[in-house]
Amino acid sequence: MEIVYVALGSNVGDRQGALDLAIAGLRATPGVEGVRVSSWVETQFVGDGPEQGPFLNGVVELRTSLGPPSLLGVLRALEQAAGRQFPHAKNHPRELDLDIIFFGDRCIDSKELQVPHPRWHEREFVTAPLQELGVAVSQRPRARGVELIEDGEALSERVASWLEGGCVIGLVPTMGSLHEGHASLMRRAREECDRVLVTVFVNPLQFGPSEDFAAYPRDLDGDVAVCAATGVDAVFAPDSEQMYGADFCSHVSVGIEAVEMEGALREGHFVGVATVVARLFAMTNPHRAYFGEKDAQQLAVVRRMSAELGFAAEVVACPIVREPDGLAMSSRNRFLTAEDRAAAGALYRALAGAREQFARGLRDRDALLESVRATLSGEPRFRLEYVELRRERDLRPLPAGDVDGGRLLVAAAFDGGDRAVRLLDNMLLQAEGER
Ligand code: PAJ
Repeated sequence: MEIVYVALGSNVGDRQGALDLAIAGLRATPGVEGVRVSSWVETQFVGDGPEQGPFLNGVVELRTSLGPPSLLGVLRALEQAAGRQFPHAKNHPRELDLDIIFFGDRCIDSKELQVPHPRWHEREFVTAPLQELGVAVSQRPRARGVELIEDGEALSERVASWLEGGCVIGLVPTMGSLHEGHASLMRRAREECDRVLVTVFVNPLQFGPSEDFAAYPRDLDGDVAVCAATGVDAVFAPDSEQMYGADFCSHVSVGIEAVEMEGALREGHFVGVATVVARLFAMTNPHRAYFGEKDAQQLAVVRRMSAELGFAAEVVACPIVREPDGLAMSSRNRFLTAEDRAAAGALYRALAGAREQFARGLRDRDALLESVRATLSGEPRFRLEYVELRRERDLRPLPAGDVDGGRLLVAAAFDGGDRAVRLLDNMLLQAEGER
């Protein structure tokens, strides 16, 4: 027999009736005995989700000879008997919610069940009833929260345990210094996957000798806090040795997509990107991997690399997150001087202006490019490096003449501060019917 604690909550319909039925149901379940019930507490709904009424919450203690999957099955059946529909939207009002908090001393990390419950210690409506039932909450293991993993072996173990538990794994590769743009990728992964792994690694291979590797912003504590707030399960933050090993000398070089634009201006950059992403895919075996359209060429390189090397990961493209003036968020924006920062919004305005002209019927490739250049020529604070209109599928050049869509890409360098800051932006032009 193991001692199990289950949290109960209800905020729709006859709340007390549903809770009482659940208790009666547990008492009548073969293999369950010694059911003790805490007092009920009323709690306002907190979190994302539609406006909804307060919860009635409590905790039961029980002893059981059932295994975790069987007990979980009993709880789901009781939720259904109370009128709850499955599958259900996250954070919607619930007739009855039954969560296993502790199952003996077990640690369970499967698709259906995480025990101890990942957020039990943050919820007073769980901790107070537990205490009332005599549980020494301060001595109970807190759930892991976001787990920081720094070596490759620990990463393999964690990934293996997730795969064993049948979890869908979402990977979000980053170089840290996390902002809202990164957080949007994590949230998307959180919605679509059972476990989310963020990697934070400033990858030396993708920086040229004259680039800003040493000066690239680093803030692991801040990054872990962003990941925790976004509900990420683990952060992998290795050093170079853990990532590559001592004599690493295999590189992944990607054709076509990696040659022009950023590829031409930053020699070796995409070899570094493709190599580290391939390495991460090999180490973590993700079902899905999330990348921002902000770096559209990188996305194209990763897509080709992944498909041609036969990784199973689905590469998921996420939209660009922008500042209020339209500037695409980037870890490098902080290096802009105040004047350069004020001027940087012009990149977005130029792209949005061309998109508007496209929407009004302008179709000529060179006229669209000229429209971007014309807007930017009024801004002397940066050097325009390129403006391109490319085929959306693979960013190959489009022939001169009329186009029926494509992606506009710009890069500009700001030389006003201590160091040059390069900013990239892009925007999709799409005919009405194809949206
Ligand atoms: P980093 O610049 O940290 O970006 C990590 C991911 O966040 C990339 O997929 C990038 O496109 C996305 N991202 C950055 N700013 C964004 C924004 N404003 N909106 C939406 N997504 C945004 O890109 C890299 O790191 C590295 O090259 C990496 C892929 C991790 C390989 O080292």
